[in-house]
Amino acid sequence: MTKIEKDIKTLKKSLKNDLDSAQNEQTIENIRIQYLGRKGSLANLMSQLKTLSIEEKRVVGPLLNTLKIHTEESIDNAHKSLIIHLQQNKFQKLKHFDVTAYKQKKLSGHIHIYTQVIQQLQDIFISMGYEIADGPEVETEYYNFEALNIPHDHPARDIQDTFWLTNPGWLLRTHTSPVQIREMKKKGAPLAIVSIGRAYRHEAVDASHGFMFQQHEGLLVGKNISVSNLLATVKAFLQKFFEKDDLDIRVRSGYFPFVEPGLEVDASCPFCKSGCSVCKKTGWVEMLGAGLVHPNVLASAGLDPEVYSGFAWGGGIERLAMIKHGINDIRLFTGNQIEFLDQF
Ligand code: DAH
Repeated sequence: MTKIEKDIKTLKKSLKNDLDSAQNEQTIENIRIQYLGRKGSLANLMSQLKTLSIEEKRVVGPLLNTLKIHTEESIDNAHKSLIIHLQQNKFQKLKHFDVTAYKQKKLSGHIHIYTQVIQQLQDIFISMGYEIADGPEVETEYYNFEALNIPHDHPARDIQDTFWLTNPGWLLRTHTSPVQIREMKKKGAPLAIVSIGRAYRHEAVDASHGFMFQQHEGLLVGKNISVSNLLATVKAFLQKFFEKDDLDIRVRSGYFPFVEPGLEVDASCPFCKSGCSVCKKTGWVEMLGAGLVHPNVLASAGLDPEVYSGFAWGGGIERLAMIKHGINDIRLFTGNQIEFLDQF
């Protein structure tokens, strides 16, 4: 065997090896250049022809031609088989692709938990015949304290650590109760209003206290209004809010200067009969403060306490939402955590 015949054999072998291990089209293209390109292995062998004698050329020439055809065919075939193989692979993968497995999550906005709860409460009270009222968050000392029977030196002012504004006599309201006075002054009696909005207290923030929170405030004024009217109203509202017809309430005496008597209203635990973590195993959950409107409050709003009587109640929106939805930290409401908000 001549040297060139040996080279031809070696080239065929290495071509086969190279093609066998090619995994993608780019590698095959590289092989094509490596063997058939202008400076490729075949061109290199061809260039050796001119060093041979005429007899040798007669033998080697056809061999090189055959080699060229063989190389071209091998590369083409390898290319075709690779394409078929790749398609089959792709098909195999698609065959097991479960179109239902990866549901695209819709990135749409939704109503904030605060707003949801506020709207629920508004719906309930509107259905009970109440009007929705609004009042300013920047209040005067008069509406926030004095008109509500909390005079200057009254110890109740200590309960409500206040954000005072630099303008004397102005503050961020510490509760929604001043709306009572504004509404009575504006509309007189009879009157049934509910107001929901922000209140502010100069308080250390923790899982159950915020310096800003939301309250709802209810007020009904008319003639011969009694504690039974108050209890029936509050019970009906809590039953609707917690969607529990058998929810019961109980009252304990409480102190709020703007009502007399003042009451703390508890509801039977909406989640258990025998004690759970929400009711701390007592079966009762604190819901709100309430009472019969103090005669001084009626009078400061321009209503005659001899003619009119009324009841009022008030409490935190967060508290209601936290109990209803099992939320354990008040800071979550304003924390802007998508994972938290997306649950509602
Ligand atoms: N304003 C009270 C507070 O912030 C809540 C409250 C208690 C409102 C009794 C009332 C009421 O209308 O009658 O704690």
